[in-house]
Amino acid sequence: MDEKILQLLRESPSVFLSGEEISRRLRVSRTAIWKRMKRLRTLGYEIAASTRSGYRLIRSPDLLTPSEIKPILKTKWVGKAIHHFHTLDSTNSKAYQLALDEAEEGEVVIAESQEKGKGRLGRQWFSPPFLNLYLSVILRPKIPPHQASLITLMAAVATADAIQKFSGLLPLIKWPNDILLRDRKVAGLLNEIHSETDRIHFVILGIGVNLNMEEKMFSKEIRSVATSLKIEMGQTISRKAFLQFLLQELESWYSIFLKQGSAIIVKAWRDRAHIKGRRVKVTSFGETLAGIAVDVDSDGALILETEDGKRKRVVAGDIEYKRKLRVKSYEL
Ligand code: BTN
Repeated sequence: MDEKILQLLRESPSVFLSGEEISRRLRVSRTAIWKRMKRLRTLGYEIAASTRSGYRLIRSPDLLTPSEIKPILKTKWVGKAIHHFHTLDSTNSKAYQLALDEAEEGEVVIAESQEKGKGRLGRQWFSPPFLNLYLSVILRPKIPPHQASLITLMAAVATADAIQKFSGLLPLIKWPNDILLRDRKVAGLLNEIHSETDRIHFVILGIGVNLNMEEKMFSKEIRSVATSLKIEMGQTISRKAFLQFLLQELESWYSIFLKQGSAIIVKAWRDRAHIKGRRVKVTSFGETLAGIAVDVDSDGALILETEDGKRKRVVAGDIEYKRKLRVKSYEL
């Protein structure tokens, strides 16, 4: 009902719409309309009201509801269905449930806040309300499960490009999918896959972007390694506007991947890679390996040259830089 009222108000931005007219068109009482207007104001909508003339929408808040987003979305299929929530445990968990219930490719779950936002490796993703972006996209790629990490690389490239096009800044990607600005993490991705031996049923792309966090809002532990677009750009970020860039980049990189295959994704990822020839420590499935990050292979795995000169393939894990020093001869 809120959506319908907003739609009517948006249709006539410069004139007042009478309560009688709205109640006739939506087939509800004028008291119900009045209550809804009150509720919309608490959500941040500025609505002028006059007993004689009715209601007029003056300003909308930066909410990520379908009615706010759809008018500005330029995508063909990503985000055509948007499931919006004020709060969720985790957008990934919700998207996973929806995908099990046959939700279609391109459906998006957005929450204004998350109570148990999931980070990689069992960590929590700090998700306070109305500041940032927490979303999950349902994809159903027809690729074998061993190529699923290419979807992660693809999503990291799309997120980095959305940040670059929106801000003009140059983000880099830390393997496999942290997006950094000035060496600090501005966005993280957590992708979850549902598959059988030779077939992917769906992938949930979970993306968290720090948009309007201020330094003091980050916990002490992460303050020196995290950032937000507001901090980097020195201005408040329109979440709606950024979301539009992000969904557009996801749609276009995903179709590039489906049409042209993995090589172009791996190349795009390498071009934006932050770990070019760095000495790193990788923790993967409880094992710690030290070496030089030399490449990413065509399945998206990290190739590590260990201290004894052997090359190891790491499919999942977490990287820690050992020194800032770069080893020049590697081109990642
Ligand atoms: C990381 O640890 O870097 C990954 C963070 C991913 C956070 C996003 S926020 C939206 C989506 N829902 C979740 O519960 N997690 C991801």
